[in-house]
Amino acid sequence: MTTSEIFDRTGLDRVCAFVNGKGGVLKTTLTANLGGLLAVAGWRVLLVDFDPQGNLGLDLGYRHQAEDDDGLGMAQSLMFGAPLNPLKGVRPNLDVVPGGAHLDQAAAGLVSLAGKDSRKAKLALASALAPVATQYDIIFIDCPPGNEPLQLAALGAASQIIVPTKTDRGGREGLLGVAKRLDSVIDVNPGIDLLGVIIAATSSSAKSVQRTVREAIIEAFGTADVLFENMVRHAESPAQAVRERGVLVHELEEQVNSGPKWYEVLRGTAKAGPSQPRSAGNVAEDLHNVAQELVTRLEAAEKRNAS
Ligand SMILES: Nc1ncnc2c1ncn2[C@@H]1O[C@H](COP(=O)(O)OP(=O)(O)O)[C@@H](O)[C@H]1O
Ligand SMILES: [Mg+2]
Repeated sequence: MTTSEIFDRTGLDRVCAFVNGKGGVLKTTLTANLGGLLAVAGWRVLLVDFDPQGNLGLDLGYRHQAEDDDGLGMAQSLMFGAPLNPLKGVRPNLDVVPGGAHLDQAAAGLVSLAGKDSRKAKLALASALAPVATQYDIIFIDCPPGNEPLQLAALGAASQIIVPTKTDRGGREGLLGVAKRLDSVIDVNPGIDLLGVIIAATSSSAKSVQRTVREAIIEAFGTADVLFENMVRHAESPAQAVRERGVLVHELEEQVNSGPKWYEVLRGTAKAGPSQPRSAGNVAEDLHNVAQELVTRLEAAEKRNAS
C-alpha cells in the first residue's frame, strides 16, 4: 500500500464496534444502554445501528416511528457516499443512525463493490462516518450477527471492538469467529484493538461457568486480560420490559423507583401502577459498572497507543 492510499482516520479514534457472529449475546442491549449511560454522563454519543433487524430502535423507542428510516440513510451513504444525517437528540447528547431492512440492499452493494475494490468496501462505513465523527466523543456500532459484508465494513471503521459473549457452549465459537474476522480487516485498519470481552450471563449461577469462558477467550485471543471484570447478570423481566416500552434500563429503574410503593397501595394512599420488574435495579447497576470499566479500558488503551 502506498502512502497516498492510507485512509485518513482523523476523528475515528473512538469508534467501538459491538461484534459477535452470534445473535442474542446482548450486542444491541449494550450498545443502547452503555451509549445511553455515557450520554447521561455528558459525552456526545453517536450510535450506529448496523443491523438489518433494526433492534436498536426498540431499545431506544424510535422503531417504526415517523423518524425511523429503516436504514435508508445509512444504506445510501454506504452505496453512494450520500452524507450521513443522524437522528438528533434521541436522548440528550445521544444521536442515532437507524438500521433496518435497507441495510440488506447495502450489503449486496458492498459485495459487488468488494469484487472490484475490496479496500473500498471495507472502508465504506469509515468513509461515511468520518465527516460527522468530530461532532462526537464516542461512536458505537451495533453489528449484525451474520452478514459478512456489513461486519467487515463495521470492523473497517472501528478503532476498538467489544465482544459480548454468553456463558454457554456457543460462546467459544462466537469468539473464534471474531478473531478470524479481525484478520480480514487488518490490511485497511491495522490499528484496530480489542477493548474487551463482556460476559452476558445465561443464569444467575454464572460464576462457575465463567472459567469455561476464560478458556475460550485465551484460545481465541491469547490472553484473558481482555475479559471485563464486570458482567451483566441474567434477568428476563426487566429485559422484556425495556424493549416493550422503548426505554433504557436506567430509565426503567427510575420509573420503578418513582412508582407507588406496595405498602402505599396496601394502605390505599396510592393506586397500583403497571407491574414493575424488581430486578431492574440490579441490571442497571451491572450496566453502570460495565460503562465505567469501558471508560477505564478505553483510557488505558489510548495511553498505550500514545506511548
Ligand atoms: N440482562 C439480561 N438478562 C436476560 N436477557 C436479556 C438481558 N438483557 C437483554 N436481554 C434479552 O436478550 C435478548 C438478546 O439481546 P440483544 O441485545 O438483542 O442481543 P444481540 O443484539 O446480540 O442479538 C433480547 O431479547 C433482550 O431483551
Ligand atoms: Mg442485535
